[in-house]
Amino acid sequence: MEVVIVPDAKAGGELVAGAMASLLREKPDAVLGVATGSTPIPVYEALAALVRAGEADVSRARIAQLDEYVGLPAGHPESYRSVLRREVLEPLGVEEDAFLGPDGGAADLVAACAAYERALAEAGGVDLQLLGIGTDGHIGFNEPCSSLASRTRLKTLTERTRADNARFFDGDVGQVPRHVITQGIGTILDARHLVLLATGEGKADAVAAAVEGPLAAVCPASALQLHPHATVVVDEAAASKL
Ligand code: GLP
Repeated sequence: MEVVIVPDAKAGGELVAGAMASLLREKPDAVLGVATGSTPIPVYEALAALVRAGEADVSRARIAQLDEYVGLPAGHPESYRSVLRREVLEPLGVEEDAFLGPDGGAADLVAACAAYERALAEAGGVDLQLLGIGTDGHIGFNEPCSSLASRTRLKTLTERTRADNARFFDGDVGQVPRHVITQGIGTILDARHLVLLATGEGKADAVAAAVEGPLAAVCPASALQLHPHATVVVDEAAASKL
């Protein structure tokens, strides 16, 4: 695992966007796995700037979603599909048909999970998966004690994650869905390159557990230790307990 310490979130965003741009030069139809949350926003801003400057070409790229809430009404602004449309697809000018994601509104959610696994496989797998990290060490929505071999499936959120995410729902934890679909840890580990980005002091404990703690399901992000090509990009604050 490679750990890169950057001065701040903007520098982290530029570094990761640069890695995406160089991947797209080698493989124009690469599958970029994207994450939600506040942390990856500087990456998407920096990548959009590279596209505007003609330094990144996303015209053939495909974008794959990491996880999704279950049960939000179609088009809800905080469904991860809506968030990614707003933060990634529209600024980059990527068409909807280049987007792969699980259907959190499906009548048969188990079938929706299996369908998403198939869609990822048919796309040839994820080339670069960007990950954030939860304060409890979760990746995607794989909460502590998720199987390290898990595949895309339904999960129940912990109260801690619901409280962390309440800020996207007018601060009202009651509006945060209890259930989600997430790529499993095994699914995430299938990506050819994993890039975990963490910024701010609030992530310092989770980063230390993921990078220097034991490989353990209690810290899902520690699964990156198993991956042959994993890069952890952290600012000084998130690196402060390493
Ligand atoms: C959610 C997402 C994760 C993300 C995490 C951290 O739980 N499912 O993919 O990593 O939030 O979000 P933030 O970057 O806002 O701290």
